Amino acid sequence: MTDHPRIAKSLLLAVVLMLVVTACGGAGGEITELDAALVAEGAELYEAFCAECHGSDLRGTDLGPSHLSIVYEPGHHGDGAFQIAVLIGATPHHWDFGPMPPVEGLTEEDVEAIIAFVRQSQREEGFEPYPP
Ligand code: HEC
Repeated sequence: MTDHPRIAKSLLLAVVLMLVVTACGGAGGEITELDAALVAEGAELYEAFCAECHGSDLRGTDLGPSHLSIVYEPGHHGDGAFQIAVLIGATPHHWDFGPMPPVEGLTEEDVEAIIAFVRQSQREEGFEPYPP
């Protein structure tokens, strides 16, 4: 998997982003203006590219799972999992929705913004139990 150079780069970027977000955001602390802009951009992209299956409120639809499930907390599905899911799709392993197809038309930076939005929402709304 890591012999795919784009994925390796995605993972690296995701790790860097995570460090930046951790450094700026603190534990539930203030959000910098830069983070807020990134989160706002991510919210728009999420609505356009992910909400169809994962729901505008992130709580899932008939086509895909809730990103507020504890399954998607950063320790279990880290930011790299988001880059990879967009790039090559996801094989079903937690739910019965079937596979997630790759999502075309997003750059790594776009996905970083989406991740920022998802993490911010998780922080604000907390997690749903699994199984639901
Ligand atoms: C066509 C429907 C569909 C769209 C659009 C979609 N997803 Fe998914 N996604 C799914 C399904 C179904 C799963 C559940 C796979 C499983 O059972 O674990 C999933 C799982 C995931 C996972 C978990 C992957 C893993 O490693 O388990 C991530 C992360 C994710 N989606 C992110 C996104 C993001 C970000 C977008 C928008 C850019 C998006 N998805 C758009 C259907 C979709």
